[in-house]
Amino acid sequence: MSSVPFIQLDHVSHTYVTNKEAITALDNIHFSITKGEFVSLVGPSGCGKSTILSCLAGLIKPTFGRVLIGDQEVQGPSHQVGYMLQSDYLFEWSTIIQNVLVGLEVMRMATKERVHYANYLLHEMGLSSFKQHYPSQLSGGMRQRAALVRTLVSNPEILLLDEPFSALDYQTKLKLEDLVSETLKKHNKTAILVTHDIGEAIAMSDRILILDHSPGRIKEEVLVPETIRHTLPFRAREAKEYHELFQHIWKELDQDET
Ligand SMILES: Nc1ncnc2c1ncn2[C@@H]1O[C@H](COP(=O)(O)OP(=O)(O)OP(=O)(O)O)[C@@H](O)[C@H]1O
Ligand SMILES: [Mg+2]
Repeated sequence: MSSVPFIQLDHVSHTYVTNKEAITALDNIHFSITKGEFVSLVGPSGCGKSTILSCLAGLIKPTFGRVLIGDQEVQGPSHQVGYMLQSDYLFEWSTIIQNVLVGLEVMRMATKERVHYANYLLHEMGLSSFKQHYPSQLSGGMRQRAALVRTLVSNPEILLLDEPFSALDYQTKLKLEDLVSETLKKHNKTAILVTHDIGEAIAMSDRILILDHSPGRIKEEVLVPETIRHTLPFRAREAKEYHELFQHIWKELDQDET
């Protein structure tokens, strides 16, 4: 992994202004991420995690500071960035394959190669035989896998994952964590995961940023030990270091509650 920054939040602050009030969601957030790195954001509800992702996705422009991808300042949404949310947002009236290809069609990117890649990813996610099914015929985990294929198919270099597994049962979630982890490593993607699940953050990431709220700022940065990083999420939970780190992050977050 190189140490050259690929993503940078350069002293970013953001205040949402509504007609009733001004809410400062981010206060001087400063960090960088290298290519291929997997970073998780954890912190209490309302500390600005989704706001950070929205800045990176180019959906909002921060009030102060700069967001850079490569050496370009983010000006708006781009193909380079894929955003996956808690809800899968599949179109119920379209089949799985149509759902997977819809983004490509909108962007006029549905080339033969891309369609081939979509089919390959569906196969990789175990969804080959469900291409012609409608979302309502799939389980929650299968729907999330389909949403993941839809996010990956335009081949974004960066994946923003906002609690993508939180609506799933525990077993499905653990399986998907392994699958996502493997898929992203294999394709050398850079990823930022927002999660309330400390175990998930430790098991999946290279690095974890713990955020504080009112207004949101980075409280601590935790490097995940090599032993965990080189193990798939499911197995990583058995490592001694996993439990130590869990206790540490738990305490850090617990202090926020009081
Ligand atoms: N569109 C908006 N307009 C006004 N305020 C907003 C808007 N979006 C978020 N906020 C406020 O900004 C702060 C940060 O919100 P954000 O959604 O980024 O938090 P979060 O860490 O993702 O929380 P959660 O864990 O609950 O998803 C909160 O106080 C929230 O009320
Ligand atoms: Mg959020």
